[in-house]
Formats: sequence, C-alpha cells, structure tokens
Amino acid sequence: MLNKTWLEKLLLGLLLTPLSVSPVQAHEHVHDAMQGHWMAPAKEAKRQNPVKASPESVARGAALFQTHCAACHGATGLGDGSAALNMNPKPQNLKEMSNHHSDGDLAWKIANGRGPMPSWKKTLKQKQIWDLVNFIRKLAAS
Ligand code: HEC
Repeated sequence: MLNKTWLEKLLLGLLLTPLSVSPVQAHEHVHDAMQGHWMAPAKEAKRQNPVKASPESVARGAALFQTHCAACHGATGLGDGSAALNMNPKPQNLKEMSNHHSDGDLAWKIANGRGPMPSWKKTLKQKQIWDLVNFIRKLAAS
C-alpha cells in the first residue's frame, strides 16, 4: 500500500511537472526571442513611412522582394530561403517579426544590414525600401 502511494505520487509528479513548467519556459522563450533582438536606433524607428501602402507600392515591393530578398528570406518571408540554410544568425520569420517593429525600424534595417543581411542603401532607392516595408506589412497581414 505504502509502495503504491509512493508510486502514485511519483507518477503524478511526473505528469504534473511538464504542465507546471512549460508555460514559464514558453514565456521565457518569447522573451529571449525579442531580447537582444536587432533594433534600429529609436530615432530611426520613429520615422514615418512616406509611401502610401497602395496596391501599386505593395506590388513594387513584392517584385523587389522576389529579386533581392527571397533567396535568403524565402518567397513568403518565412526565413526559409535556400541561401540562408547555413547562416548564423538566420533570417527570422518576417511575417511574425514585422509585428514587433515599426516601419521606420524595418526600413533602417533594410538600408543598413547587419552580419549576413546585406545593406541595401547603395542598391535601392529609399522609396523602394518603403515599398518593401509595405510589402512586408502586407505579408504579415496575409
Ligand atoms: C544574403 C541573405 C539575405 C538577403 C539577400 C536579405 N536578407 Fe534580410 N536578413 C538576413 C539575415 C541573416 C537577417 C538577420 C540578421 C541579424 O539578425 O543580424 C536578416 C534580417 C532582415 C530584417 C530584420 C528582421 C528582424 O528580425 O527584425 C529585415 C527587415 C530584412 N532582413 C529584410 C530584407 C529585405 C527587404 C531584403 C531584400 C531587399 C533582404 N532582407 C535581403 C539575410 C538576408
């Protein structure tokens, strides 16, 4: 009897442990994902997008994205482009990440790059960068 109770307690403990631990771990995981995450300087992040997110702008952004970005970011921005398979850091899911960032923040990061993410300010016009931001927003909303 005593043995059974002991066994029951052990089993119950094993069953309950993942339940009581995982929400905390999940929470910390979300924190970790944003902590130390690449952010534009605050002043840049506050910049307003001067290009209206018209269907034309989104279409221009989509075309630019397929030409210049999809190799690493994947056609739909999931971060699964073939060129990025062995990268460190890897491009994150733009659909998700963009919800945490302002237009100004995204535009600045596209312009300046970091590590394996190229800087685009010499290749693209500022207006094209805003078109890309409009496209990324559209991706996130889809
Ligand atoms: C050679 C591969 C490569 C190409 C091409 C590339 N990127 Fe990236 N990109 C990356 C990587 C890797 C990161 C993550 C960098 C980091 O966290 O330090 C990144 C990060 C980003 C971020 C920041 C996302 C975040 O997590 O905050 C944006 C926005 C972005 N890229 C947009 C673009 C756009 C738009 C283009 C095309 C004009 C492009 N990238 C082209 C590899 C690439």
